[in-house]
Amino acid sequence: MVTENELHELAREAVASIAGAEDADAAEEIRLRYLGRKGGLLTDVTRGLKDLPPDQKRVIGPVANRLKGLIENAAAAYKRSDAGAAREAVESQIERRGGKALLFGSIEIPEGVIQFQDAAAATGSQIDLTIPGRVPTLGHKHPIVQTMEDITEVLTRLGYTVAEGPEIELDHYNFEALNIPKDHPARDMQDTFYVSDDVLLRTHTSPVQVRVMENQPPPIKVIAPGKVFRCDADITHSPMFHQIEGLYVDRNVSLADLKGTLETFVREIFGPEFRIRLRPSFFPFTEPSAEVDISADHFAGGEWIEVLGAGMVDPAVFEAVGYDPEEWSGFAWGIGVERVTMLRYGISDIRLFFENDLRMLRQF
Ligand code: PHE
Repeated sequence: MVTENELHELAREAVASIAGAEDADAAEEIRLRYLGRKGGLLTDVTRGLKDLPPDQKRVIGPVANRLKGLIENAAAAYKRSDAGAAREAVESQIERRGGKALLFGSIEIPEGVIQFQDAAAATGSQIDLTIPGRVPTLGHKHPIVQTMEDITEVLTRLGYTVAEGPEIELDHYNFEALNIPKDHPARDMQDTFYVSDDVLLRTHTSPVQVRVMENQPPPIKVIAPGKVFRCDADITHSPMFHQIEGLYVDRNVSLADLKGTLETFVREIFGPEFRIRLRPSFFPFTEPSAEVDISADHFAGGEWIEVLGAGMVDPAVFEAVGYDPEEWSGFAWGIGVERVTMLRYGISDIRLFFENDLRMLRQF
């Protein structure tokens, strides 16, 4: 059975070796030497405690327990590559009195026995200074915004500038000045969110055409990206979505110019292998009007897919803004940003854009 003196000797040795451990492996070895289940030096002491006479038990018990805690804490700290915490675990059990180092306030430790490895050595290869720091998580642009910016970028390269208009719009700009008469089906309450008799949420970006032309003389070369609203919701329609309007007014602007512009634009956005097709259609504010389809061999099984509406500005619109239709001609188009984004990325449900599910958004 261990005597008090032998225990003190054991404690001194244990503290000196754990304080001098070179790395986590060495610290673990020391821990096992003292605390291992079988043959651990301290394990044997604590096991034998119950057989000691009470006065010895009172002295040896607490020292053995504190030593056990000290070794465990220090070994765990080394494992975390934290030499500072290992030092703390040991130092917290050491008291300095009259130039002497006393373990647990009573066991004297000769100067120089407790020598910590410095942090770098103690942690050894476990600290890799070449590992990059932690990068804070950053968000990114919503796919709709990305598409809007891509389209805007292509068109500004073609010489267009960006114009804006209000989302809450007057009936005059949204309909009347665009040659949409009072009884036109587009005015039906089903499609339009009315705020009052003559105020509404704009149903397209075309009113920006009128506002721009009212405010400046030709030539005009603008695009108007923005939110529009229609009372409609299913997998391909959302009550709020985005359009980009284009308007070009000058002398002698022709349908060929429109086609060339759209072709350039579609190839920039979808890829150089894409073809476009203008299909006759009707809008009250353009004449002639066209629906524009795109296709490519690898796209939608080679089918023509409609992406935008366009046409030559109707003389009635020029008259509404005070331009002379004999002198000026122009073209306009309106494209749905959600639709382009869905086609670009093969997304089949428009609602995914507005649910803000990060599992979806992080893929862009
Ligand atoms: N404003 C039309 C729409 O929302 C699109 C369009 C714009 C058509 C400009 C022709 C010219 O459907």
